[in-house]
Amino acid sequence: MSQESERIAWLRDELNRHNHAYYVNNTPEISDREYDMMMKELEALEASHPELADPLSPTRRVGSDLTRGFAQVKHIRPMLSLGNTYSVPEVDDWVARCNDMLGNSGGLVSVPIVGEMKFDGTSISLTYENGRLVRAVTRGDGEKGDDVTDNVKTIRSIPLVLSPGDWPAEFEIRGEIVLPWKAFDRLNEERAFNEEPLFANPRNAAAGTLKTLNPAVVAKRGLDAYFYYLLSDSLPSDNHYDNMLKARQWGFKVSEAMTLLDSEQAVNDFINRWDKERRELPVATDGLVFKVNSLRQQLNLGFTTKSPRWAIAYKFAAERALTRLEYVSFEVGRMGVVTPVANLDPVLLSGTVVKRASLHNEDIVKSLDIHEHDMLYVEKGGEIIPKITGVDLDARQPGAEPVRFIKECPDCGSKLVRIAGEAAWQCPNKYGCRPQLIGRLEHFVGRHMMDIEGVGEENCMQLYDAGLVRNIADFYSLKAGDLENLPGMGPRTAQKIIDGIEASKNVPFERVLYALSIPSVGETVSRKVARAVKSLDRLMSMSAEELVAIDDVGPKIAEGIVEFFSIEFNRNIIDRLREAGVRTEIEVPVDTSASDKLAGKVIVVSGVFSQHSREEYKAMIEMNGGKNTGSISKKTSFVLAGENMGPSKLEKAKSIGVPIIGEDEFLDMIR
Ligand code: IVH
Repeated sequence: MSQESERIAWLRDELNRHNHAYYVNNTPEISDREYDMMMKELEALEASHPELADPLSPTRRVGSDLTRGFAQVKHIRPMLSLGNTYSVPEVDDWVARCNDMLGNSGGLVSVPIVGEMKFDGTSISLTYENGRLVRAVTRGDGEKGDDVTDNVKTIRSIPLVLSPGDWPAEFEIRGEIVLPWKAFDRLNEERAFNEEPLFANPRNAAAGTLKTLNPAVVAKRGLDAYFYYLLSDSLPSDNHYDNMLKARQWGFKVSEAMTLLDSEQAVNDFINRWDKERRELPVATDGLVFKVNSLRQQLNLGFTTKSPRWAIAYKFAAERALTRLEYVSFEVGRMGVVTPVANLDPVLLSGTVVKRASLHNEDIVKSLDIHEHDMLYVEKGGEIIPKITGVDLDARQPGAEPVRFIKECPDCGSKLVRIAGEAAWQCPNKYGCRPQLIGRLEHFVGRHMMDIEGVGEENCMQLYDAGLVRNIADFYSLKAGDLENLPGMGPRTAQKIIDGIEASKNVPFERVLYALSIPSVGETVSRKVARAVKSLDRLMSMSAEELVAIDDVGPKIAEGIVEFFSIEFNRNIIDRLREAGVRTEIEVPVDTSASDKLAGKVIVVSGVFSQHSREEYKAMIEMNGGKNTGSISKKTSFVLAGENMGPSKLEKAKSIGVPIIGEDEFLDMIR
């Protein structure tokens, strides 16, 4: 073995070990920096030794940016579900039944039972051969599932290669892929920000993420996995509990809550304990699972058609509270949509005080048939956002009127209009209604848009009400002197805001487009449109028919764009933004104007760049006669690579001999 191959093997082992210490045991031994340094070294060595590539190297956890569908795989052993109950007496009956069927007449002593958490995620089956992960398959219909191996490889608590141990040459391990609460909250915050639909609970988020076609996206979301079932022709032990302890030794995350129970009483105590303590766990659980421990006894009990007789799930009831409706308020968003909100007598639910719950739209208010001052049921089960699930009709006050959806905007008094084909009502006074105007200022300054430091939700309202910023273009006429005298602001804060506004002039065109609050034009559509049209001038001159030719742009979005630019108010704002120096086109350096220097060249752009954005490089390639493509093949002339180019792309380019060039070299080429 060469020195390099020895070093590669050592780095892979060390990184695997530190991964396990960090993600499974929560006991990191080295700093993040040291870890990153080792990872970088391994990446570099692997890049210069493609012959030593290993798809299970720790460097592969990041996920390549190739996207593709999932192949279907038949399960070797079908994945059954569990019988379940919400009642403790039914769990007791199950314990008694198992004992009866197994001929145990030990009185209070039961056949050994294992109590476990029921993780609320999405189930997964992993197959290992000779200590290496070969396949990860979802439950699917129980007979066959989707092969999600590439996505599962990005989950850092799942071992890709097992350390030497007494694992069977072939085994399957089943568990639950979960999205921990923290990662779930972060993901939803981000989605709320981008006005993307929120995930109702971590289960949906985990399942949705696992089915994402791009492993690089999966890698970022922070999935985790707990394991609870080992299957093999040569298991290490004759009982479930010891098999799971072995799995833990081999590197799998097995819940610390797993407990051996030897009586009905112990089973009940386990339920009482975890009904409360589960709230402290970092991941969502929706119940407990009880399993007969001995594999021989499991075999004797056998299966019904759907589920094993040797196991049962006890499900926790969703937490529910009853509280009085104080009043329904109607709130106007940045696009004028009016949302009814139930304002409640504060009530404690799953550890937080609930005072408000969205009623979403008129149809929901009607279907719940809410009357003034009704007693409402509020639930927070797996759903993190409190939800009104019903009305206690017995507590309705005599003569109470039904809650009616308003007909006029609560702020500006305009007559509301119902959005065609939707349950939403909208205030049509787009350019004169205060909450809409302030909402658009807040959107404009946001992190994913112009990212103006020092301006947030509170001071947008302050600036609007002080008459200083009435529309987004007004930000660029602000002077430090205007701000200094506002309550709570001094010269330092004022200057910080002015600097933040100045810096926003460098924000790329695609984000400027998103910041404009064009109806239905979210972050992704803005990016695609900016990429396709390259400048605001061109976009403003396009018809709806031309716009629908752009990827992801449908007739509704196209008409929204055309209408937006047909309004003088918007055109004036755009003129002022342009004059202020905000970017209204994809930036292409002046000294690389159109040429045919790249004629006939097929180029792949990959990685993160420092001098221009990836989009700008793509535009430069086209302007100089070259062609952009997404994947590397023999036809590729070269790869324009930035930092962190995807390792699979790097490897592919090397293996078929496609040259890789950096940004300086590229800019020299077209200058
Ligand atoms: S055992 C044949 N144990 O719950 C028995 N399942 O409702 C296989 N689940 O499909 C399952 N935590 O996705 C088992 N500790 C646990 C579990 C668990 C969560 C899920 C699993 C299963 C579903 C059945």
